[in-house]
Amino acid sequence: MIDESLLRRLPKAELHCHLEGAVPAETAIMLARRNGVRLPTYDAQQLYRFADLPQFLTVYRAVCASIVTAADFAEVAYAAQADAAIAANLRYRELFVNPTNHPDLPYPRLLAGVLDGLRAAQVDHGVIGRLIPAINREQSASVAGDLVEAVIAHRVDEVVGIGLDHNDVLGPPVKFAGVYARARAAGLRRTAHAGEIAQARQVTESIEVLGCERIDHGYAIIDDPVALAHALASGVHFATCWSTCAWFHPDRIGVASPIVAMAAAGLPLSINSDDPPMFGTDIGREYHGAATAFGWTLDDAQRAALTVLDAAWIDDTERRQLVDEFRRETTDLGASTAELDIAE
Ligand code: HPA
Ligand code: ZN
Repeated sequence: MIDESLLRRLPKAELHCHLEGAVPAETAIMLARRNGVRLPTYDAQQLYRFADLPQFLTVYRAVCASIVTAADFAEVAYAAQADAAIAANLRYRELFVNPTNHPDLPYPRLLAGVLDGLRAAQVDHGVIGRLIPAINREQSASVAGDLVEAVIAHRVDEVVGIGLDHNDVLGPPVKFAGVYARARAAGLRRTAHAGEIAQARQVTESIEVLGCERIDHGYAIIDDPVALAHALASGVHFATCWSTCAWFHPDRIGVASPIVAMAAAGLPLSINSDDPPMFGTDIGREYHGAATAFGWTLDDAQRAALTVLDAAWIDDTERRQLVDEFRRETTDLGASTAELDIAE
């Protein structure tokens, strides 16, 4: 089995991490105090405790409420990127952000703050940050529509697409069909959380009705042969999350994880950290969990890290540069790159 410290040094990219979910408890408490916002507790050991997805999302929204100004966003974006670069050699990350959970901060100001943080982290730590504004599916289609219009009106290269998150049981994909059609027409890439705790049908609908090119989570697919066959034929990539999957499916952990079954079924997938400090993880730990269950060698882990770049929403020049860098560095770690054939 590969040593965790070696896995941490492997260059990595990730496609599924929530900016507001990447705030350490101590930082959330500091921001809440600074901004006069109420949290359920000011004890850092207690804040990130929850039993299920609805409870988790209540805490997540309280943390969102604590992030108030553009400067707050710059601070948390910088720290999230720097932490992952330092701890686990993260080199590229697409981050979700929920602008409608910050209704008092106009989207252009929120965006300016996040971009300041992402750009500074790239300069200081060599990690590229891209942004995916995510629709809170528990809110109305009209709120989502206004968000997508703001994203289109304030288009910047770093904003690569749109997402859909929060409780998948409470907001079916069809509710956002018009909003996704508008995003698609404007040239935005599209992903959606689906089948995290809701049924596989939501994965199929996200592909068919929303035109999603990626699916976040999607674990329910493994219990539905029709939806699985559809997903396989569609070629969509599944951005899975090792720890949050185990958290919300405690009866299926380790080798019994739906992620192991999804890979065995042939679905293209990546391993991601979702809301790292909220679940006591980071991208290094996610790779270690997956590597242990999958029985990866260092070559296997490198292959997994490289295939993430195939599904990244970057231009091909940048993709090739990252592939070259990943290969060079991983060879220095002791992996062979001979039989790899990725993004050429
Ligand atoms: N699931 C759904 N919505 C979310 C999550 C998650 O893990 N994190 C932040 N929003
Ligand atoms: Zn998520």
